[in-house]
Amino acid sequence: MKDTISAGDSVDSSIFSTVHSRSNTDSLKWDRYLGQDVIPMWVADMDFQVAEPIQKALEERLAHSIYGYTVAPDSLREAVISHLQQEYQWQVQPEWLVFLPGVVTGLALSCRAYCSDNAEIMVNPPIYHHFYDSHENKRQQLVKVPLHKQGHRWTYDIAAMAKACTPSMQMLMMCTPHNPTGTVFQEDELQAVAALCKANNMLMISDEIHCDLVIDRSVQHVPTAKACPDYADRIVTLMSGSKTWNIAGLNTSFAIISDESLRRQFMDAQQSLIPPVPPLALVATEAAYRHGGPWRKSLLDYLAGNFARIEEMLDSIAGVKLEKLEATYLAWIDASELSQHPDIENVQTFFEQHGVGFSSGEQFGQPNYIRMNFACPRDTLDKALARMQLAVDSLGSA
Ligand SMILES: Cc1ncc(COP(=O)(O)O)c(C=O)c1O
Repeated sequence: MKDTISAGDSVDSSIFSTVHSRSNTDSLKWDRYLGQDVIPMWVADMDFQVAEPIQKALEERLAHSIYGYTVAPDSLREAVISHLQQEYQWQVQPEWLVFLPGVVTGLALSCRAYCSDNAEIMVNPPIYHHFYDSHENKRQQLVKVPLHKQGHRWTYDIAAMAKACTPSMQMLMMCTPHNPTGTVFQEDELQAVAALCKANNMLMISDEIHCDLVIDRSVQHVPTAKACPDYADRIVTLMSGSKTWNIAGLNTSFAIISDESLRRQFMDAQQSLIPPVPPLALVATEAAYRHGGPWRKSLLDYLAGNFARIEEMLDSIAGVKLEKLEATYLAWIDASELSQHPDIENVQTFFEQHGVGFSSGEQFGQPNYIRMNFACPRDTLDKALARMQLAVDSLGSA
């Protein structure tokens, strides 16, 4: 059944420019502003229909009409492994894969599986907000060591990280490509982080959910465990097709853990707590990795076009500065200058009042920034950018 679905070599980019209403689907992103004229550009899902092979695979599975407990089939493991080999020249063994209903679940499980009472866990702000709430509050403590900017790129401050390490520091939770700064950490950066973790006996949890969304063609994603082979047995990688193929609502992701004993600890921590991955999620994930390549390539072109439009427009909007972006469909915008205006208390609220709903930088640990999800048809993006311009134009000069 699985191999009867053909993907073709390319997809027509009009599938990304078509506006689809998401009303009456209980969309988290859109229903936040139900009944209001606000364009939602916050939570990370896309306003694009899924690739045809995913839809077909789901329809075929739905036609069977029985949805009992389901295990991840070997064919799914093969599809994932061959994608990782092809895209990243990373050789993963089938038994290393542990399927999960979410990457955030993987972060939380890692804290529970690997950290003792009173452990410290390092995170590097700004970072995706669930990095701040995945640990067990009363048992573990987060230590925040901010990323710093080198030129126009956010990266690790290894010296500051080394200073913050104590004997209680047991784990680092990181993500590459990075949400929200869009950095794709390169081999030397990952190796420096791994060396620090090795010196301090810390596990590395590497969330790579955005790895297939590199939009700057001069850059390539490198899996942390591939970049650091000497430390790979102390690295847990978390991945998912959910961001790239827009199937986040199906609850699908996986961990890659090469060390048997770490994998056992991780699986034991799931017992009676984490439900198995639902059958539709498994089907969609396999179709995505097996047949979703051409769709993904067209998506990346479309997203790069959207980002170029944002660069062009934000250049002429006073008080906001767009950060360089290598990956993700989440633009990171420095609005600190705008936030100085006496009529603005909070930049996210200011834009929301003018009809555009961004994520607030505060949520990621950086106030006066906003994060713009630009995975939408260009018409929608243009409307949002025009509203931003009008909003800023409406301010009197300070
Ligand atoms: C870095 C990162 N990790 C995890 C997630 C969420 O993953 P999941 O929905 O699989 O829990 C997101 C969603 O935006 C993300 O950006």
